[in-house]
Amino acid sequence: MNAWIKAIHEYCTDHSSPPPDTLYQLERETHLKTLAPQMLSGPLQGRFLAMLSRILQPKAILEVGTFTGYGAHCLAEGLADQGVLHTIEGNPETVFIIRKHLQAAQLEDKVQLHQGDAKAIIPTIEGAFDLVFLDGNKREYDHYFDLLADRIRPGGLILADNVLWSGKVVSGEQDQDTRMIDAFNKRVLADERFTNLILPLRDGLMIAQRH
Ligand SMILES: C[S@@+](CC[C@H](N)C(=O)[O-])C[C@H]1O[C@@H](n2cnc3c(N)ncnc32)[C@H](O)[C@@H]1O
Repeated sequence: MNAWIKAIHEYCTDHSSPPPDTLYQLERETHLKTLAPQMLSGPLQGRFLAMLSRILQPKAILEVGTFTGYGAHCLAEGLADQGVLHTIEGNPETVFIIRKHLQAAQLEDKVQLHQGDAKAIIPTIEGAFDLVFLDGNKREYDHYFDLLADRIRPGGLILADNVLWSGKVVSGEQDQDTRMIDAFNKRVLADERFTNLILPLRDGLMIAQRH
């Protein structure tokens, strides 16, 4: 992030309603105990996820890529009564942090953690979704989209994180990750089942609404 963008990001964070204390604790433990804490959604994007979820009041949410659970906590804030959030994580090393903080936030009944490869697990979770958050392996976004596009209720949303890939989608980078993310963005734009919007929030957040 260059200095100007960083300053804007900090200003927006400082002038937005803060996350609940449970999320400060989760963020802190993630920084202390994981090797790539920058992977978590963080306060500004997290508050955006929470607000979107509260507006939508989803009955069923799916998150692909839990990491330590920050995004899951934020999205769960807007769940309808009796609503459920499914979240899938392939790395067993963060499971103790996920479970500890779900318990601390009293979210164990609302959030179902699935451990394993999302590509195999998605087809085993039944039902349609009001809100899906793609935040797993960026090279697999196409695959997740194939599995999920027709399982979004009309009016429901697919969110996809990191779709600007540190700005590489506009800087002429030709590495495989950048090409795959750029192709994903173009593919969703061309998909007539969805209307989409890319927000330059943090590393780029795509919102695609199912017709
Ligand atoms: C960017 S982090 C997720 C951050 C989290 N969504 C948040 O908002 O704080 C991406 C996570 O996806 C997981 N992941 C990547 N590919 C996966 C796959 N195929 N199945 C399940 N999890 C996967 C990684 O292990 C990592 O923990």
